[in-house]
Amino acid sequence: ASIASMPDEVPGPNRTQDRREPQPEAPRDAFANTPDTDPSLAGNRAWGDAIRSRMLTSSLGDATVRENTLSDAAALDAVIARAVASGEEWRALGAAGRAEVLHRAGDILEARRADLLEVMGSEAGKVLEQGDPEVSEAIDFAHYYAESAKRAEQIDGASHVPVGLTVVTPPWNFPVAIPAGSTLAALAAGSPVIIKPARQARRSGAVMVEALWEAGVPREVLQYVQLDGRELGQRLVSDPAVERVILTGGYETAELFRSFRPDLPLLAETSGKNAIIVTPSADLDLAAKDVAYSAFGHAGQKCSAASLVILVGTVATSERFRRQLLDAVGSYRVGDPSDGASRIGPLIGPAEGKLRHALTTLEPGETWVLEPEQLDEDGRLWNPGIREGVAAGSPFHLTEYFGPVLGIMTARTLDEAVALVNAIDYGLTSGLHSLDDDEISQWLATVQAGNLYVNRGTTGAIVQRQPFGGWKKAAVGAGTKAGGPNYLVGLSDWTDAPVAA
Ligand code: SER
Repeated sequence: ASIASMPDEVPGPNRTQDRREPQPEAPRDAFANTPDTDPSLAGNRAWGDAIRSRMLTSSLGDATVRENTLSDAAALDAVIARAVASGEEWRALGAAGRAEVLHRAGDILEARRADLLEVMGSEAGKVLEQGDPEVSEAIDFAHYYAESAKRAEQIDGASHVPVGLTVVTPPWNFPVAIPAGSTLAALAAGSPVIIKPARQARRSGAVMVEALWEAGVPREVLQYVQLDGRELGQRLVSDPAVERVILTGGYETAELFRSFRPDLPLLAETSGKNAIIVTPSADLDLAAKDVAYSAFGHAGQKCSAASLVILVGTVATSERFRRQLLDAVGSYRVGDPSDGASRIGPLIGPAEGKLRHALTTLEPGETWVLEPEQLDEDGRLWNPGIREGVAAGSPFHLTEYFGPVLGIMTARTLDEAVALVNAIDYGLTSGLHSLDDDEISQWLATVQAGNLYVNRGTTGAIVQRQPFGGWKKAAVGAGTKAGGPNYLVGLSDWTDAPVAA
C-alpha cells in the first residue's frame, strides 16, 4: 500500500493538482442552492426534465467511431495484424524517440482541453469540476510515462523488453484519463496498442486517441476500435498475438476475460467499495467536506469513491459532523454538465438493478439521513442520499453500487472500524480522518487497501505522487499501479541480456 498522503519530494508534473481552475460562479437564479438556504437539495428539482432539452450535445469523435466500428472477424484480424507489424518500427524509435512523441501528446491534450470537456460532458455526464482535473491527469500521464520510459531504459545492466501488442479496454467513468494512462504507458514501453473504449464513452476515447495521432503516434501503432458483438471482443483478447490486456472495469468483467483465455496476460484495475474512517481526533469540518466529495463527486461513479463513512466513538453522535456533512452535500447542485455551477451530472444511464435498489430501499435498521430523490423521468438525475444504521455484514456494507448514495456505519474503536473495512472483499482506496499520529500509524499498519489517504478524500489520485491500484478483488492479474514506476514493468519483461534495438 502506498502512503498516499505523504509529502513527495520527487518533482513531477502534478498538473492534476495545480490546474484546478476556479469555476465560474453559480448564476444567481431561482435555483440557487446554498447550504444556508436549501440544505435539502430541493432546488435541484426544478432541473428535472427541463435539463434534457438543455444538455450539451456534441459530435466530437463521431467520425473516428464510425470509421473504426468493426462488425466482422476478418476486419478485426486485419487490425491485429497491422498492429503487430507496426511494433518493430515503434520499438526501434527507442525510449527517447517515443518520449518525444508522448511529450507532444501531452501538449496536444492540453490544447484540446475544451474539446475533451465537451465530449466528456455530453457523452458521459462529466461536470466541469470533474472533467477539468481529468484532462490534467491525462496530460500528466503523457509527460510522466515519457520520462519513466527513458529512466527505465537507463537502468544499469538491465534491458527493457517491451511486450508485444497491448489491448486496452477502459471504462466509461474516466473516459479520457484512464484510456490515456493505459495507452500512454504501453506506448512508452514500446508496445503497439489496440484500444476499445467502453461503448458509453466511445466518442471521448476517440477524441483522446485523435490527440495522440496528431502528436505523431502512427495509426498502425495505436488503433482505435469499437466492436459489434461480444464474439469480436472475445476474439480480440483471445488472439495469441495479444501479449497484454489492460482492463479497467468491474471484477466480473475481469473474470469474463479470463474465461475467454485462461492464460490471459491481464493487468486489471477492478471494483471498489471504499470507506473513510473518522475518529474523535479528526478535524470534523474537513472530514465532512472530504466525505461529501469522495462520495458524490461524479455522482459516486468512481471505483475510488467513498461509499461508506465509519464514525468512531463520539463522532457517531456528533451533531457538528452531521450538520457539516449535510451542509456540504446540500451545496451540490445537480444539473447540466456544461453549466459550471453543476457539481453532479446525470448518471451514465438510468439507475437500475442494484443501484436503483440502493437509492430507493433501506435494509432493516437503516434510516435515511437524506433520502435520494429522482429528478428526471429517466432516472439519470438524482439528488444524493445518505443512509445511517448500516449493519456489519449487510448488503450496503459489502456491495459496490457505483452511484450517489453513502452509508454511515459506527464503531466503538478504530480497531473495530478497521475490521469493518477489512471485511469488504475489495481493497482499492481507504481513508482516515484523524489528527492523532498513533491512530494514523495503527491504521496504516492494519488497513487492507491499495491507496491509503490520510486527512484527504479517497478520489483523485495524482500521477506519480499517488500511483493508483488495489488489493484483493480490486485488482486482477498483474495488479500493478497506474501512474507509478512499476506499471511499466508490468508492460515489459526485464532481463540482464542486452537486447538488440
Ligand atoms: N484514479 C481515479 C481516482 O483516483 C480512479 O480511477 O479517483
